[in-house]
Amino acid sequence: MERSIHPSGSAWAEAVAAALVQRVADHPALRMCLATGSTPRPAYAAAVAAGAGFGATSILLLDEFGDLPPDEPASCDRVLRTSFVDGARPADYRTIDTGAADLDAERAAIDAWIDAGPGGALDLAVLGLGVNGHLGMNEPGSPVDGRTARVDLAASTIAGAQRYFEGRAAPTWGVTVGLADLLAAREVWVLATGRGKSEIVARATEGPATTDVPASLVQLHPNVTWWLDPAAAERTGWCRRASGPA
Ligand code: F6R
Repeated sequence: MERSIHPSGSAWAEAVAAALVQRVADHPALRMCLATGSTPRPAYAAAVAAGAGFGATSILLLDEFGDLPPDEPASCDRVLRTSFVDGARPADYRTIDTGAADLDAERAAIDAWIDAGPGGALDLAVLGLGVNGHLGMNEPGSPVDGRTARVDLAASTIAGAQRYFEGRAAPTWGVTVGLADLLAAREVWVLATGRGKSEIVARATEGPATTDVPASLVQLHPNVTWWLDPAAAERTGWCRRASGPA
């Protein structure tokens, strides 16, 4: 497990963006699964501003809320489009249609999209971190071998999402790429910034690997980078070692 800690703000965003730009330079047809939420947005903006050639990449939306009205501005799709896809102009962008009449067929189609990549796996999963340790919408207790699924959201996730759904109730369910495919990606990045994430970052990186804290399961992955700012890292041994006596 690697950690990359950068001063919060533009330095953090530019570090993540530079790494993303480098991955795409090395592998123009990169197949990525991308989180939304607030954490990655500055990094996506910096990557788009870098003017990198994302034109051959393929992007899969990590998760989507259910019960969305048409053109919902808080949908994960809308957020990823405006923060990254519209500027990056990938070759392929796969959203998740939670309003599909046949949701099982939609879930299977997402799995098929993943399976169609080289080796049947994603090249890179760019993930945020829920305060309860969720990855995507894989809440505590989600199966480690689970694929794309309709899931009920945890109370803390619904409460956290409420800030995006001004004046209306936040959705209580969604569809997410499952832990099996996130953990099978050739590379996994977990992005977390701010003191509010420090406790769960410490539990996920230094506690036991358990489905009670889905993000802790990335400890089992051979190629993981945690992109943190000092506040998010402050309760970890990484930070204690960096700032403590020699
Ligand atoms: C969103 C997603 C979620 C968020 C997580 C952190 O697509 O997958 O797991 O990454 O809830 O959200 P923020 O970044 O808003 O703190």
